Amino acid sequence: MARILVTGGSGFIGSALVKALVKAGHAVRVLDDNSRGAPRRLVDVAKDIEFIGGDIRDAATVHGAMSGVDEVHHLAFVNGTEFFYSAPELVLDVGVKGMVNVIDACRAANVRRLVLASSSEVYQTPPQVPTDESAPLVVPDPTNPRYSYGGGKIISELMAINYGRKFFDRVMIFRPHNVYGPDMGFEHVIPQFALRLKRTAAKHKTGRLPFEIQGEGRQTRSFCHVDDLVRGVLVMRDKGEHLGIYHVGTTEEVAIGDVARLIAAHAGHEIELVSRPAPAGGTERRCPDIRKLAGLGYAPQVPLAAGLPPTVDWYFANESLAPKA
Ligand SMILES: NC(=O)c1ccc[n+]([C@@H]2O[C@H](COP(=O)([O-])OP(=O)(O)OC[C@H]3O[C@@H](n4cnc5c(N)ncnc54)[C@H](O)[C@@H]3O)[C@@H](O)[C@H]2O)c1
Repeated sequence: MARILVTGGSGFIGSALVKALVKAGHAVRVLDDNSRGAPRRLVDVAKDIEFIGGDIRDAATVHGAMSGVDEVHHLAFVNGTEFFYSAPELVLDVGVKGMVNVIDACRAANVRRLVLASSSEVYQTPPQVPTDESAPLVVPDPTNPRYSYGGGKIISELMAINYGRKFFDRVMIFRPHNVYGPDMGFEHVIPQFALRLKRTAAKHKTGRLPFEIQGEGRQTRSFCHVDDLVRGVLVMRDKGEHLGIYHVGTTEEVAIGDVARLIAAHAGHEIELVSRPAPAGGTERRCPDIRKLAGLGYAPQVPLAAGLPPTVDWYFANESLAPKA
């Protein structure tokens, strides 16, 4: 049993991880400012955890949250592609100050175990797909705000590893690849497609529904169910090596246009894709090579065909929770 601080613990992935850690018998403390986190995600474990509401950018808050802890899982970050474009300075503020504060507070409180959430965005357009962990990390253009997120993750990884060598016993980094599931936030492709489909279907009572898509819809992603992500992080935590970097994801690669068609089919509709220009900075293919973590015993268990319908149903039922435009 360990005393674990999870930053970003009321977020989508953080809350799933918190529940799994509680189930495994750990004492869990959450630090989150609930800017994107939601207490509803933690109701099942509310009695079992300690929740600290606060900003990861505030050093005193992070130092306070670190007291009496054995291990920290650092997930607090501004996620959601639209924010990379609309608030890149905030993405970097939270990413960089948050990481500095976590490292400083760990050192001050002698917390020597750190798990860091990075991202597949550190590769941007990887030279090889499927991509393994040795692919170069790149910021192709500092003037494109999109790279605020990937840049913030690269800085976080550099800090975790270089401070980790001297000041930590165990530092491990996971790079999640397109995690999805119910209540994943509204700023991602699956929730956006689900809600747009619902609204389009309400307007067009009959026939194939016109459905706008960036480019031709041939871009691919590999969507990893949040239950698989959590299983992967726990395998890494238990068996990973100090200063190790691990992909957590799935090798099931799917075209974005097909994701739209799957969502439509689940809702009983047919769609006609309507091509729209894609914003600069996106990447054509993304699929992780997961052999490193598989070597420790990880295997994804939830195919998209099984995980997508309940996710879409959650969004159909909870449209009222979407941020107002
Ligand atoms: N969801 C994915 O597909 C994905 C993919 C790659 C990496 N990641 C990374 O995994 C981690 C969790 O992602 P998620 O999908 O759960 O995102 P999320 O937005 O649901 O969770 C992030 C949490 O951080 C909190 N947070 C943001 N700013 C904060 C601040 N200033 N102080 C304190 N807390 C703050 C938010 O309230 C939120 O609860 C993040 O580090 C993210 O970058 C996620």
